[in-house]
Amino acid sequence: MPEAHKALSLYILAIESSCDDTGVAVIHQGRVISNCTHTQTVHSDYGGVVPELASRNHTVNIVPIVQRALSEANISISDISGIAFTAGPGLLGSLLVGVSFAKGLALALDVPLVEVHHMHAHIMAHFATENPPTFPFLCLTVSGGHTQIVLMTDYDKMEVLGSTIDDAAGEALDKAGKMLGLAYPAGPIIDQLARNGKAKFTFPMPKVGDLDFSFSGLKTSFLYFLRDSIEQNPSFIEENLNDLCASIQQAVINILMAKLESAVQKTGITTVAIAGGVSANSLLRQSLALKHDSAGWDVFIPPMSLCTDNAAMVGISGYYKFIKGLFCGLEVTPQPRMAF
Ligand code: KG4
Ligand code: ZN
Repeated sequence: MPEAHKALSLYILAIESSCDDTGVAVIHQGRVISNCTHTQTVHSDYGGVVPELASRNHTVNIVPIVQRALSEANISISDISGIAFTAGPGLLGSLLVGVSFAKGLALALDVPLVEVHHMHAHIMAHFATENPPTFPFLCLTVSGGHTQIVLMTDYDKMEVLGSTIDDAAGEALDKAGKMLGLAYPAGPIIDQLARNGKAKFTFPMPKVGDLDFSFSGLKTSFLYFLRDSIEQNPSFIEENLNDLCASIQQAVINILMAKLESAVQKTGITTVAIAGGVSANSLLRQSLALKHDSAGWDVFIPPMSLCTDNAAMVGISGYYKFIKGLFCGLEVTPQPRMAF
């Protein structure tokens, strides 16, 4: 590449290691040119992510994934103009691997560092698409660790209007799946099995104020319902697995959609997006799409590849901070409970 062109070209290397996915992406002038993820499988035997195993796996995977991302982007490491990384929230040991790697590489290459908030990155995944939402918009961010309704008024201006007071939506599905004997993470398995089932079992809606969410009551009623039903019929789960999946999925999505409707009513904003791992859920995607036809909402549903954890979203979030000169110093540390 000619030197003059190279000087104009902004290549950002992005690193995501907040949980159990090691992700590396390359962003060129705000566009994703490579996005590589290694999903750790060691946790499936334990019914949840084991933090120590996750961080050890990140240390093994990070260099090969960086090499793959550079190779798929067809650039060399010396072309990189800046490094974006997830600083938090997430698991301390996992974050530490990505943060330390990013710092070491930034020092070696003498390029700026940009710290990224994981949930902000999930929302910013929309700006990796051809048709991003216009400001202001509401975003329901739903993952394994978070459930929030966020008002976005600019790339870096956001306000959390409501969030869960206990479990996250993805966590509720994962825990319900565990009760059904499904592997971790159960969210995508429930989604799959629910396609052949009917939501014939109903559970009470939680009564939490304003735009906040609660899923722990649903978890408990699901547990008691299973316990009582198994007492009557020991094969209840096996005989009703698809219907149970459809029912718990419907209950979670009803809670999410009811709060989203309240947020639209309260703010008068009808541009609505979803983000995070649970935005891959087919019922949530359908329910939001229906709001376009039934209520005239302008809806934004991320492509499947950008729903669950990935580094492309970190790179996009980092890009918008980079062009504003919002860099951080080498003293930056992982922030497991990073605030917005
Ligand atoms: O955003 P993410 O990849 O990681 C976190 O930041 O937590 O989200 C992971 C969560 C898990 O709880 C997983 O079960 C859920 O997203 N998930 C789904 C689906 N795909 C992933 N939940 C429901 N339906 C899906 N298709
Ligand atoms: Zn996430």
